Amino acid sequence: MSEKIQTLFSKIAPRYDRINTVLSLTNDRRWRRQAVALLKTDPYQRVLDLCAGTLEMSRALLQVNPRVKIDAIDFSEPMLKVGLNKIPFGQRERVRLHCKDVTTLDFPNKTFDGIMCAYGLRNINDNEAILKNLKRMLRSHGKLVILDFYAPEKIFPKLFQMSYARFMIPTIGRLVSGNKAAYNHLKDSMRAYYTPTAYRLLLSELGFCNVTVKPQMGGISYLISGEIP
Ligand SMILES: C[S@@+](CC[C@H](N)C(=O)[O-])C[C@H]1O[C@@H](n2cnc3c(N)ncnc32)[C@H](O)[C@@H]1O
Repeated sequence: MSEKIQTLFSKIAPRYDRINTVLSLTNDRRWRRQAVALLKTDPYQRVLDLCAGTLEMSRALLQVNPRVKIDAIDFSEPMLKVGLNKIPFGQRERVRLHCKDVTTLDFPNKTFDGIMCAYGLRNINDNEAILKNLKRMLRSHGKLVILDFYAPEKIFPKLFQMSYARFMIPTIGRLVSGNKAAYNHLKDSMRAYYTPTAYRLLLSELGFCNVTVKPQMGGISYLISGEIP
């Protein structure tokens, strides 16, 4: 499964950002800006960008928190390469790239002030295991910020998934990326994932506090965050 995902993202890497802009009707950057705003204040000095892809989250965070140091992890080298070219020269030393699987992270305990992940955790089979590992790597009062598409609970996101996500995303995705499998995967993984309520519960059960769940565009995307006590 993970090999398939790695190949899939590596193939679409040069077109990934453009496709996101088209499919999200240009909303994707605003959603990421809302996410990194939760990590912009001074204590967030060392941040992990999980499933960093083309570094859209890292880039957005550097814009609001230029002193931050980021470890960006992704197992697709082509995605990371596209991303590095987008970081201004003066800020490149602030981003350390790691081409590896996020399910095998072994940073020491309490390494990070913040961990962010946009549209990545949905690709991972065992979210509970990875969340436990992320919690271990966060310092006390550290924050986890997750942006993703979840299984729909309310009527508007249900309609969205039955129409736009089911028919338009695979079609537009195939036309713009030339890769049918990639955008079928997006559609299928959204349906099979947690609901936002179940994810909130999972974070609370794992010991995260102040868990917040914020719908974006009526619940098409969700911004979920939690803190270490
Ligand atoms: C939908 S993209 C999101 C990229 C980026 N975070 C963004 O906001 O656009 C998902 C990324 O997760 C990466 N990914 C998926 N599973 C992974 C894993 N097990 N280890 C490392 N990277 C993974 C893929 O290579 C891909 O770049």
